[in-house]
Amino acid sequence: MHLQEENNTVSITPSIGNTPIKRCDFLSGFYGTNIFIKEEFHNPGMSSKDRPAYFMIQDAIRRERIRLGGTFVEASSGNTGLGIAMIAKQLGYKAKIFVSKSCSQEKIDKLEEAGAAIEICDNSNGLHDFQSTQFRAQSFAAKDPNAYFTNQYYNTQNIRAHYKTTGPEIFQQTSGKVTHFLCGVGTGGTISGVGRFLKEQNPTTQIWGIEPKGSILQHYLAYRTTPQDIRPCDAIEGIGRNFVPGSFDPEHVDEIYQVEKRVSKMMAQWYFRETSFRCGFSSAAVLAGLHGFYHEMRFKSTDQVVLFFPDHGRRYLTKLYSDKVEINITNAIAKHG
Ligand SMILES: Cc1ncc(COP(=O)(O)O)c(C=O)c1O
Repeated sequence: MHLQEENNTVSITPSIGNTPIKRCDFLSGFYGTNIFIKEEFHNPGMSSKDRPAYFMIQDAIRRERIRLGGTFVEASSGNTGLGIAMIAKQLGYKAKIFVSKSCSQEKIDKLEEAGAAIEICDNSNGLHDFQSTQFRAQSFAAKDPNAYFTNQYYNTQNIRAHYKTTGPEIFQQTSGKVTHFLCGVGTGGTISGVGRFLKEQNPTTQIWGIEPKGSILQHYLAYRTTPQDIRPCDAIEGIGRNFVPGSFDPEHVDEIYQVEKRVSKMMAQWYFRETSFRCGFSSAAVLAGLHGFYHEMRFKSTDQVVLFFPDHGRRYLTKLYSDKVEINITNAIAKHG
C-alpha cells in the first residue's frame, strides 16, 4: 500500500509507509516462538506517526479547511508533531506543535530542525485541562482563521491511516500468518486501525495493547467506563493516558497489558546488550509486555508475533540509555490486571 494513492502530486508520499518487518532471531529463540518487528523508524520522520500526520493533513487540504501558507497545529509527544512539521513544510504550510514538558530534548531538537514553532506545556492530560497540550493547541487554532488543529486524539484519519496502510502491510509481509500484534497505546490510532484490518482478515488474530501502569485504557477496555479514581499516570513518551481518546476504538482490541516504566527501561537495556539495537521507549514497553505474556504461557511455537516499534532509541539516548540499570529479566513481570 502506497500512501501516494492519497494524492499523486506530493513528492514526499512514496517514502511514508512500506516499512520493513524483520524476524528477530534473538527474541524468537528466547521466547520459543516466531517474533517479528515492524520497524517504523524507517519512515522519513523516523516514526509511525508520519502515517496519521499525512492522512490528517491531506484530509484538511482536501476539505479546504486550510489555505496554502496556513498553520497546522498539533498536540504531540513529538513524533506526530515531527511528521506534521515535515509534511506541512513540504506542502507550503507552517506548523505549531504543543509538546508536554516530558518530551525528550532529542525530539524538540528535531522539531526545531523541521521548522516547527514549539510550545512546551505542563501536561498532555486532554482537553479538560487548561494547561494541557491538547487544550492549548485547540485554543491557539481557534484564534487563527488559517490554522487547522489536526487533533490526533479525535481525528478519524488517525485510525484510517493505520487501517489503510500499516494493517495491510503487516498482513502482506507475514503472508497472512500473523497470529498476534502487540503495540503501545497512546492516541489508540495504531491499535484501532491495525486491529480492525487484521481482525477483518482473520478474527482469531490477537490484538494486544501495552500501556504504562496508572493509565486507564485497560480498565476502559474491560468495563467501558473510566475508573472512579484517576491518578496521574507515569506516562512513557507516546503511551499512557488518563483520559479515553476518541481515536481508541476498543472493538478490535483483545487485551491491554500494563507495564512498569522502570521495567521497560530495563528491557531496553537488556535488548541493547543482546542485539546491539537501541529501541525507543514505547518499543521497550512492548518488550516488557511480550515478556509478561510469555510468562503467562500465551504463545505457541508456531505463532507469528508482530511487535510494533514506532520509533528508534536514538530519540531517547538520555532518558533510556544514559544511566545503566541492573538487568534481571526474571524480575520483569508486571501484574496483569
Ligand atoms: C513513540 C510512540 N509510541 C507509541 C505511540 C502510540 O501510538 P498511537 O498514538 O497510535 O496509539 C506514539 C504516539 O505518539 C509514539 O509517539
